[in-house]
Amino acid sequence: MMLTIPDVLTPEQVLKCRAALERASWQDGRKTAGHIAVGAKDNEQLAQDDPLAIEIGDFILERLVGNPQFMAAALPLKVLPPRFNRYTGGGTYGNHIDNSIFTVPGTPHRVRADLSATLFFSEPEDYEGGDLVVQDHFGSHLVKLPAGHLVLYPSGSLHRVEPVTRGARLASFFWIQSLVREDSQRAMLLELDESIQALTRQLPDSPELVRLTGLYHNLLRQWSNT
Ligand code: NI
Repeated sequence: MMLTIPDVLTPEQVLKCRAALERASWQDGRKTAGHIAVGAKDNEQLAQDDPLAIEIGDFILERLVGNPQFMAAALPLKVLPPRFNRYTGGGTYGNHIDNSIFTVPGTPHRVRADLSATLFFSEPEDYEGGDLVVQDHFGSHLVKLPAGHLVLYPSGSLHRVEPVTRGARLASFFWIQSLVREDSQRAMLLELDESIQALTRQLPDSPELVRLTGLYHNLLRQWSNT
């Protein structure tokens, strides 16, 4: 399931973060690519211990915890510290599938990547190209969102970033271990959750709401791992 979550950051927050990111110490992204990805990757990243990356990353995590749509869709158990990248001058990242297990920097803790997230900091009109292309059973999906919006997609999907032929594409990207590992189960829970929310608005006194909400929790109990 691929999902867009709008307005994770307000326009003011985007401007503030982007101004700081434009002055940041960008490094060759190949430093962090695995031996297969290294040939496909041509971008810049912030070091994971860069104080600015940590500061903006913490801010993003705070915003996500307060975002009901993100919480309902991702059902996050652990979220890796957000990272940052920049594509300019033909920069690209060819087709790849993200790693499955990541270690939280500076800790022995490991996180399984169930969901990949990209949070856009550049407006679509600020650059040419740079679409995130995600492939699934239904074909290829092109994603290029307004600044402050986020896309979530299963980490097991083949994906790439098209060459940026004009301007700069600034984004944050990170991985989430979900309480529910299976994408199809997570998608069904979200469907049920959204239906319950809609019914709550339309028929707040319906006794079926209690039963449906119970069903949601009983499915989550059965399917979640902590
Ligand atoms: Ni990737």
